[in-house]
Amino acid sequence: MSSTNPIVGVFDSGFGGLTVLRALLPRISAAHYIYLGDTARLPYGAKSQQTIARYAVESARFLEARGCDYLVIACNTATALALDDIRASVNIPVLGVIEPGAQSAAEATGLNSEVLVLATTATVQSHAYDTACAARGLRVTEAACPLLVPLVEEGWIDHPVTREVLRIYLSEALQNCSPEAVLLGCTHYPLIAKAIAQTLEDLGSEATVIDSAEATAAAASFALTSPRHPSEAFIPATFECFATDSVEKFQRLGSLFLQQPISQVQLLDLGG
Ligand code: DGL
Repeated sequence: MSSTNPIVGVFDSGFGGLTVLRALLPRISAAHYIYLGDTARLPYGAKSQQTIARYAVESARFLEARGCDYLVIACNTATALALDDIRASVNIPVLGVIEPGAQSAAEATGLNSEVLVLATTATVQSHAYDTACAARGLRVTEAACPLLVPLVEEGWIDHPVTREVLRIYLSEALQNCSPEAVLLGCTHYPLIAKAIAQTLEDLGSEATVIDSAEATAAAASFALTSPRHPSEAFIPATFECFATDSVEKFQRLGSLFLQQPISQVQLLDLGG
């Protein structure tokens, strides 16, 4: 890894990982970020391990070939099902979202606490969060919430349908557990974190909502930043984006996730 101005690759199945880029930008300055959203093949959350690993490895290799020094797998599903394959296929350090998310849940709660993980179907079936949380002495219930990704992609952030879907998912999950924390195990969920917290409260739960995007940015920042000398000028981070489908849609929807305009998006063909 170069000693200054690292190039950080951020990979997601689509737009959602921009919530991780959003968390990274203020934390690691003097870095250049290359974001890749595999929008043509989204969603990963309902696909098989073999397919997810093949897609994720192709994307990771692309980012390494673009000169990235460090890779953040912002996609929970790709982390859960393909982190080992990705690490085996590139020669740069790779950070996934699950270990930082589980660590953050452990720090927010404590030994033997109960944690509810909300994620895609593929992530839940992998039990990757369960394994990572159990290793930290937490008790885990995992709930698949497949309707939330399309609702967020539709921009239905503060919408009665999204609130109703949340009420159904969370009331079902709360029949099986009384969590101290609810871990957002999908890139899209931070956008509806307020609605999730409100629904939990309405259902009588006092669980803290934990965002794995923030936890991942903190872990990357720990790995990448060296203390800055007080006389050094602050250099804001720069970023460029690649998408495997409509550039126009990426700019429009992506700015919602990143909470700032996205001017530079290049179309990339990774094949089928
Ligand atoms: N990025 C995925 C995740 O964090 C959600 C979208 C998808 O299913 O591809 O799990």
